[in-house]
Amino acid sequence: MSNLLIRRPQQSDLRALTAIYNHYVETTAITFDLEPKTPEQRQGWLEGFAPTGRHQCFVAEMDGEAIGWASTGKFREKAAYDSTVETSIYLKPGLSGQGIGRRLFETLFAALASEDVHSAIGVITLPNAPSVKLHEAFGFALAGTLRESGRKFGRLWDIGMYQKVF
Ligand SMILES: CC(C)(COP(=O)(O)OP(=O)(O)OC[C@H]1O[C@@H](n2cnc3c(N)ncnc32)[C@H](O)[C@@H]1OP(=O)(O)O)[C@@H](O)C(=O)NCCC(=O)NCCS
Repeated sequence: MSNLLIRRPQQSDLRALTAIYNHYVETTAITFDLEPKTPEQRQGWLEGFAPTGRHQCFVAEMDGEAIGWASTGKFREKAAYDSTVETSIYLKPGLSGQGIGRRLFETLFAALASEDVHSAIGVITLPNAPSVKLHEAFGFALAGTLRESGRKFGRLWDIGMYQKVF
């Protein structure tokens, strides 16, 4: 895909990335946020990334448009968890199954290889075959399933805790 660029995020991406996120907030249980976010509410999320360190983000750009991202962030607040990160990856709807997720994860994990990250966790609302396949392709394995852990759209959802140990 020659018109695909994987690069660091920039402020001007925030609107497009928020719109992508809100699609999944409003129409799926992939995220357990229940209400859409404004770009202003997502500003702190964008500012939480740096070009080095444990919490990094890469954006997929196609024809000048930000069409997705992959990132790592805090898994849990308490300090001993710091070398464990939680992954996040979202593509604009309609663009899955073309290898873009794979390109994003390749770049993200290559960047993290020199950082003090010992473990990455993907928290996947089940079922989500594309996400499970992508995570497994990058060495994540199912550590356990938390049953009925989120209530959205009037039903309870299981989450798969997928872990990659570096
Ligand atoms: C999950 C997501 C990031 C995967 O990215 P992607 O670009 O679709 O994935 P790729 O094309 O790189 O393919 C990765 C693997 O998933 C598989 N896959 C892709 N779409 C699939 C589908 N609809 N059903 C089953 N497997 C699928 C591919 O076959 C590939 O496996 P392979 O390399 O062994 O063939 C993307 O589909 C997405 O944004 N989904 C909506 C948001 C989401 O679910 N985010 C993850 C939250 S945990």
